[in-house]
Amino acid sequence: MSRGLTLTGMAAAAVLLGGLTLPVHAAPDGGAIYARCAACHTRTGAGVPGVFPPLGEDFRTMASSDAGRRYLALVVTRGVSGPIKVGGKPYAGVMPAQATLDDASVAAVLNHVGGEIAKSGPAFKPFAEAEVATHRASGAALSAQDVGKLHAAAGGQ
Ligand code: HEC
Repeated sequence: MSRGLTLTGMAAAAVLLGGLTLPVHAAPDGGAIYARCAACHTRTGAGVPGVFPPLGEDFRTMASSDAGRRYLALVVTRGVSGPIKVGGKPYAGVMPAQATLDDASVAAVLNHVGGEIAKSGPAFKPFAEAEVATHRASGAALSAQDVGKLHAAAGGQ
């Protein structure tokens, strides 16, 4: 996945341009953002059975349908609270909304999970920033419990 310009590259470009401010925004680094998810879901995404669900086949299955993609974007922007079943195991905890992540950052971290963490399931189609914006707006009134109720219809199992 492209990580935009490296810091060294940006510094070099700034020097070449004599210190002009560059109108370049480095794309958010999904792998770096994933560190906050790993605190609960673990570095490999295996999770902790019954406490923190794995980010694996269930994730990729949901990412292959429109309802599932909306659910995944809302899990990050609104949080989620079960009861839900992931990989056949029940979860009834609370994931706090990661509300400080902007749309590009939500897309980047979901794409990191779909591309690097979840290793099985259907082929993963990346999220675009605009898609996240649409889903975030459509679910702006939902609580974490409301998002949990979307799980089954989103293809979760
Ligand atoms: C404080 C712990 C915590 C953090 C941080 C956290 N999660 Fe979660 N996450 C949970 C819990 C707990 C659940 C399940 C909720 C339940 O038990 O009802 C969950 C559920 C999910 C689900 C739904 C899984 C499914 O199959 O339905 C996804 C997707 C997810 N998290 C992704 C992320 C991503 C991406 C991040 C980082 C941006 C993240 N989580 C950060 C605790 C966390």
